[in-house]
Amino acid sequence: MTRYGLIGYPLTHSFSQRYFSGKFTREGIADSRYDLFELPAIEDLPVIFSTPGLRGLNVTIPYKQAVLPYLHRLDSSAEKIGAVNVIKIEADGSRTGYNSDYYGFQQSLIDWFSELNRSLDGAQALVLGTGGASKAVTVALTDLNVEYKYVSRTKTDTSFAYNELTDILSDYSLIVNCSPVGTYPYIDEAPSIPYDLLTDRHLLYDLVYNPAETKFMQLGRKQGAYVKNGLRMLELQADKAWEIWQQ
Ligand SMILES: NC(=O)c1ccc[n+]([C@@H]2O[C@H](COP(=O)([O-])OP(=O)(O)OC[C@H]3O[C@@H](n4cnc5c(N)ncnc54)[C@H](OP(=O)(O)O)[C@@H]3O)[C@@H](O)[C@H]2O)c1
Repeated sequence: MTRYGLIGYPLTHSFSQRYFSGKFTREGIADSRYDLFELPAIEDLPVIFSTPGLRGLNVTIPYKQAVLPYLHRLDSSAEKIGAVNVIKIEADGSRTGYNSDYYGFQQSLIDWFSELNRSLDGAQALVLGTGGASKAVTVALTDLNVEYKYVSRTKTDTSFAYNELTDILSDYSLIVNCSPVGTYPYIDEAPSIPYDLLTDRHLLYDLVYNPAETKFMQLGRKQGAYVKNGLRMLELQADKAWEIWQQ
């Protein structure tokens, strides 16, 4: 039996478990299972690593950084981001960390721009929020040669405050929401950017995927902006995890 799973705490509903269990059934992948390993303390991780047949793990909140000391190697994007959401376990027990959010975001962005016949070359981006997901997004943007600036509730040398966006919004065509604002059940909330200044030159990418059309996307669409939710990123990061485990 080849085993895979998700570690995090608490674990309630999981996209990954549904995704991989569905994949195993659909594609007739025999002798494989995907389990939830709810882990109250990271110190218990070695017990999970000793599960017979375990080949891969997904990692979610709050352990994306805390797992680093338990790994032998990091792939280059995970190293730059400083966080891991996929672990590959070799037959000899050695473990490598990857960040598939990086791949999911980057590939979905390339595909979206290509569908819209837009060029990423010379695009400038605003990244809303400065948490873990924003790190994967900004490393992916940098690797695509897209310049970006953070927007945060706390103004720093490297970020705008939300109330500073009025004068600069026309300089940035891509706006990526990396904050959880607008996620179900808080569907009437949206990041506080000046929506009335958006035009059909803007592209709004929301990492949030529930609801399928967030308030951020609705308000952008009303102004003629192109909008996208985080579902494709989520699917692509899961596909990437699978590819990593099968290499
Ligand atoms: N589609 C996908 O595949 C995918 C993958 C990963 C994550 N996500 C989604 O991306 C979102 C961010 O994930 P994360 O792990 O980075 O989350 P997080 O660490 O909880 O929050 C990210 C950042 O959002 C800002 N923020 C938090 N609460 C806010 C509020 N009430 N108002 C305004 N800003 C707020 C904060 O930045 P400041 O303090 O600087 O304002 C925070 O650091 C989540 O909704 C997550 O589900 C989607």
